[in-house]
Amino acid sequence: TAADASALVDRLTAVVADFPKPGILFRDITPVFADAEAFGVVCAELAEPFEGAFTAVAGIEARGFALAGGIGAQTGTGVLTVRKAGKLPGEVLSESYALEYGEATIELRPGQLPRGSRVLVVDDVLATGGTAEASITLLERAGYEVVGVAVLLELDGLGGRDRLASRVPVHAISSA
Ligand code: PRP
Repeated sequence: TAADASALVDRLTAVVADFPKPGILFRDITPVFADAEAFGVVCAELAEPFEGAFTAVAGIEARGFALAGGIGAQTGTGVLTVRKAGKLPGEVLSESYALEYGEATIELRPGQLPRGSRVLVVDDVLATGGTAEASITLLERAGYEVVGVAVLLELDGLGGRDRLASRVPVHAISSA
């Protein structure tokens, strides 16, 4: 159930102080991937509100890839990879977005699925929502319909949900 999945995320997530920089409280969800039962449960729960509504899953680099793979295998859907700049060959779409200091760029290879394909975006953590919002824009520029964003953990107070909510439904298994 949703409550079981939320409890698993809360129990298994490791909270690491001062990583990757002093003052940052890092939430490491990789123990959820390492636990076979938890991984299956959270993949199912991420997809549950969108059941039947998507034909592909887009994972955001890097931890979103593992989740997208799990959901894709469980639901019989394909996987798209939204990557950091410079990793994809050939024609790519690029989207840049502001970070606290500086900016980041993510990329997508267009043309891998038919235009109009319905895509669920997945990642481990939603913070400011900048990465997820840029991912939605990339997928829409490629001609896809984004049906929602699903994350393991939503960080409160950073505005991520508000930023995305005007565009697509947001589903978070847990929050912190
Ligand atoms: C983290 C996380 C999300 C993003 C969330 O990725 O996995 O992708 O930040 O932040 P935002 O909502 O403020 O955009 P990170 O940049 O650490 O990349 P990694 O997964 O490749 O380590």
